[in-house]
Order: sequence, then C-alpha cells, then structure tokens
Amino acid sequence: MAKFNLKPLKKQAQKDLNSVKDLKELDEIFKRYLGKKGKLTQVLRSLEKLPKAKRVKIGKEANQLKNFLGIKVNQKVEDLKEKVRKKTEEREWIDVTQPGKKPVLGHLHPLTLVKRKTEENFQAIGFSVVEGPEMEKEWYNFDALNIPKDHPARDLWDTFYLKNGLLLRTHTSPVQIRFMENNNPPLRIIIPGRIFRHEATDASHEINFYQVEGLMVGKDVSAANFKAIIQEFFNRFFEKPIKIRIRPSYFPFTEPSFEVDMICLNCGGKGCSACQQTGWLEMMGAGMVHPNVLKNSGLNPKNWQGFAFGMGLDRLAMMKYKINDIRLFYSGDLRFLNQF
Ligand code: DAH
Repeated sequence: MAKFNLKPLKKQAQKDLNSVKDLKELDEIFKRYLGKKGKLTQVLRSLEKLPKAKRVKIGKEANQLKNFLGIKVNQKVEDLKEKVRKKTEEREWIDVTQPGKKPVLGHLHPLTLVKRKTEENFQAIGFSVVEGPEMEKEWYNFDALNIPKDHPARDLWDTFYLKNGLLLRTHTSPVQIRFMENNNPPLRIIIPGRIFRHEATDASHEINFYQVEGLMVGKDVSAANFKAIIQEFFNRFFEKPIKIRIRPSYFPFTEPSFEVDMICLNCGGKGCSACQQTGWLEMMGAGMVHPNVLKNSGLNPKNWQGFAFGMGLDRLAMMKYKINDIRLFYSGDLRFLNQF
C-alpha cells in the first residue's frame, strides 16, 4: 500500500533529479516515480480505494506532483541535451580562420618548360611553330634529306625500324620536307618534337629525347642571318648575353654545314667536367639547306635558299637548369621533378 504523504516523495524526487548526470539516469528516475510501477503512479492507482474526501485531497496533490515532476523531467532532458551538444561542439570545434590544407598542384615537366620558352622566343622573332609525325616514312627521314639508301651517312642515326617501311624518326629534320612540300617560301618555322635513337643510354644519351628543328628559306637568307638569329635566341633564352661559336661540320642535308657551341655556363668557359674541360658545349647542328633538299620538297634551288638547324632540347634544359644526367628527365623521379 502506497504512502499518501507526498511531501517526502516530492523532496526525494527533487533530490534525485538534481543529482542526475545523464539521460540514462534520468530515464531510471522517471521510471522510479512515474513509470508503471513508479512510486507516484502507485499512489495514483490506489486513490480509488480511499474515501471520497481523502481521495479528492490526495488526488489533487498527487496530480499536481505528477505535473510538477513531468515539467522537471522535461526541463532536465533539455538541460542534458544542451550539455551533450556543448560537449560535442567543444570536441568538434574548428577554427575557420586557420589556413586550409593546400591540395598538391601538379606542374610542368622541365622539358615542357624549355620547349615552351623556346617556342615563345622564336615566335617573338617571327617564327611559326610546326609539328610532324613521330612515326615516319624512310623517304622523309632519310632519302629526301639527301641520305640515300646504303649511303654510310645513314649510320649517323641508329634507327628503330618498324613494319611496312616505317621507322621512328631519328630527328625532326623530316618535317622540313613535309612543310616545304605544302608551303611556299619565304618561310620561318621551328619544329619541336620527340625523336628516337637505337642507342645505349648513358648520362648524355637516351633512346628518346627532344629536338627543335629550325628552317628559314627566302630569296637571300644567308649564314649571317643564321648567326644573328641564333645569337638572339640564346640571349633571350638564357636572359643574358651568351657567347657562341660556329665550327665547320658535315650533314648530308646542308652545304656548308656547321656546329654551334655555346660557352659553358657552368665554368664560364674556363673548362670543367660538364664541358669536358673545353669551356664550350655543342648545342646544335646547322647549315645552309642543300639544293637537293629543296628539290626534293618541290622548290627550285635557283630561286630559294636558306638555313636549317637542329638543337637538342634536353641539352638546352640541362644547361638552363644545370642538370648533369639526361636520364633524369625520363626517370619520373619526384625528388627531381619537384624542383621545377
Ligand atoms: N638532324 C640533325 C641530327 O639529328 C641535326 C641537324 C643538323 C639538323 C643540321 C639540321 C641541320 O636542320 O641543318 O643530328
């Protein structure tokens, strides 16, 4: 039989509610007083057994207590929820004013940078950029360039031969012919591109690398024009005056032929391991376009003349960034690449 003195019940309930620490405890307290077998519920249930006067009085009090406790419990629920929310907030707080993590950005390969800079500098002095196929016909790679079949000069280029008389171009020179077949002089072009050599690799040799070919043809284009243009290019590319020298050489597709050296930037011309103690670095082959090359492209050598050159882009990049091993460009090594 439940006790009908509600004062101590109320006091105890309030005490319990005050000391409650979490929702689970609160739930227990709710059940303790207001659950099916709760203390107050029992009081309310046994009211009917009381005489009317007492029932009215106690009933009123008990219902008031029930409402009171109901409100208190609801309040407590809100309080506890707020506490949890605050705690979570503290734990998950982020400082929105802190700088974020920067996503790692990709960047251009040093050879691409050098190719673009070369293109820009030649474009600035009136040259157009032209491209050609990496898989080439023997005719364009050799015959048309005045290198007949079985001529020992073919041995200058170690060639990857493909099926059907095709090959991987050993230089960018074949694009000279392709361009002149379809375009009339006067013309000024450069041809950057990838080339292939069937060679053993070492610090200065790769089986595939990059060249930039140059071609200028007109009525009276001379070797003096060549020298001035190349000098201008080197000064622009390295952003300072660069000493160059021109030596006689041999290529089947030019007559006369030269080779162009630039002063070694590593030692300033004194001689070091980068330039094999000579103070100079070989940068390109060049010459006056051979009359046979003009003829093979459908031009009359009596009307037109010009110069051509072929420069190693890798060489240029090695000089620009002071890199001593060509293989680094193709290694995919991020320790190397991330420096650009
Ligand atoms: N094609 C030559 C090579 O790969 C380079 C070259 C030399 C290109 C002389 C030219 C040139 O246009 O006139 O070694």
